[in-house]
Formats: sequence, C-alpha cells, structure tokens
Amino acid sequence: MHILRRRGWEVSERLVTLEALVLSRRAALAGAGSVALAAPALAQAAAAPERNPKYVAGREITPEKYATTYNNYYEFSEGKNLWEAAQVIKPRPWTISLEGQLKEPRTIAIDDLLKQVQVEERVYRHRCVEAWAMTVPWTGFPLSQLLKIAEPLGSAKYIVFETAQDPKMPGLQSPFYPWPYIEGLTLDEAANDLAFISTGMYGKSLPAQDGGPVRLTVPWKYGFKSAKALAKISFTEKRPVNFWQAIQPSEYGFWANVNPDVSHPRWSQARERLLGSNEMVPTQIYNGYGEFVASLYSDRKNEKLFM
Ligand code: MTE
Repeated sequence: MHILRRRGWEVSERLVTLEALVLSRRAALAGAGSVALAAPALAQAAAAPERNPKYVAGREITPEKYATTYNNYYEFSEGKNLWEAAQVIKPRPWTISLEGQLKEPRTIAIDDLLKQVQVEERVYRHRCVEAWAMTVPWTGFPLSQLLKIAEPLGSAKYIVFETAQDPKMPGLQSPFYPWPYIEGLTLDEAANDLAFISTGMYGKSLPAQDGGPVRLTVPWKYGFKSAKALAKISFTEKRPVNFWQAIQPSEYGFWANVNPDVSHPRWSQARERLLGSNEMVPTQIYNGYGEFVASLYSDRKNEKLFM
C-alpha cells in the first residue's frame, strides 16, 4: 500500500489537461484575479468523467442510498448492514501488487495506475447470485487497459484478483472461510471491453463498503466474481479456485455467468429483486450482455458456464 491523494473517480488525464489548458488561456486573457474566481466551477465541471454511451442499462439507476447500504462483504459481515464497519478501510495509501507470469512483477500505487488509464463512467446492471440486483453508474477504466500495463507473458491464461486482508476486518477471524477472497477470469474475459476496474460510483470515490478504493466489476457474471478492495492481481497458467467455489463447489463454480434458466441448487435464478423498489423483474442471460460476451464461450459448451 502506498501514498498519494488523487481519487480515481475524479478526472481522466484528458480532462485534467483540458482544465489546465482552459485555466492558462483564461489567465493569459483576463489576468489572475478572474481565474481565481472561475476555477472552482471549472474544477467541478472537470470532476465528472464522461459516460460511455455504448452500454445502456435499460432500467432506472438504483438510488445511491440502497447501493451503498445493502452490501455483501464477508470480510466484515455475513449480513448486509456493514457499511459503517467497512469505513476502517482507508483508501490511501493503496497499492496493488502485480505478480506471476508477467513481464515485470511489481507493485503499483493506485494513483500511478490512474495516471496511465482513461477514466470513464459506465452504467451497468449488477446481479447477485442471491437474486437481488441493482443498476450503478461506476467510474473507472476497462480492465483491458490494466492488461496492457501489466504485460502478461504468453504462458498466462488466467488473471487472479485478491482482496486486501486488513486486521480490522472482523470476518477474517472466522476459520470457516478460505481467506483471502480470490476471484479469477480467463485472459480472454479480462480483455473483453465490458470487464471494468471501478474506482468510483455515483460520481464519487468508491465507498469502502462497495469495494473502495478499487474493485473488479464484471457485469455479465454473478456479483461474487466482482472482488472488492484489490490488493493483488496475478497472472497464472492454472485456473484458480475462487473463494465461493472453495467453500461450496456444488453451488458455485469458476464461470458464474448469469442465466435465468440454470437454477441455483437452492433457489430459482429466473427473476431478480431490484434494490430500492423491490420490484421483481426477469433475469436475462449473461445479465443482458450476451451480444458482447456470448462468443467468449462458443468453444466451451461442455463446461458449467452458468454456475
Ligand atoms: N468481495 C469481497 N472481497 N468480499 C465479498 O464478500 N461479495 C461479492 C462481491 N465481492 C464480496 C466481494 C458479492 S456476493 C457481491 S453480490 C458483490 O461483491 C456485492 O457488491 P456490493 O456490495 O457493492 O453490492
């Protein structure tokens, strides 16, 4: 973990540059006094990364208060009301260790990483395996950009995400769980444009309870694939055993693609409850993102793609 102040949701480098440019032009035209007055408004305008219009959620954005107070984070609690407890996670300093089969294993500070990527906003549907769902405007950057920075070797087939383990997380005391929280994707999945690294939501920095300061967001898979508070990202030849698969392999697998027709052994996945309204709506295959991701699985028909 490591130092610096810049927050991922704030600004892409492009916008920072734009703002600086505008300010210096104004300074040249009008003198320093008026620039000082104009600066706060400009800074605010620059604080909102552009929304990517490609991915349309097709339903209302979940009110922020529900997405930030009804959470799954077993390091803190087996219940949903953990947002206050999660505040012990401090977003800075924060580093991510890049390990395994890559050109140069190293540790990167989140703010150094953010300087090398293009931050944007994406509104994604989120479907938990427990059959609740939400729709969230995330800010962050495509995971494919991190792949380019990490430079995995040709032998690497999987990318493995590991959540930070902080002694202040009470759940870590439970011997029942195989800590740390691990998740994985194939490199092909990781390179898909939908796979996203989130550093913010609702135009603010990512709250600790939702995985701040940095989490994975994989909208076509059940929510448990989207590991929170990333401390380590490694590249492997071998498929990892993810956290929930290690706990209950008959119920949770590696692929975990959303499918309304493949029931959980203990409940149906046909419908989902929207946080906030509690309306029940039909679940969609690949959570509605099939046009972008179904081709990833055309050669894997014999695997358990939907659990
Ligand atoms: N990551 C960690 N480290 N620990 C967890 O318990 N829960 C997962 C996922 N990531 C979890 C995690 C599950 S089951 C879901 S549905 C989502 O986080 C919930 O994300 P949210 O709390 O932001 O809604």
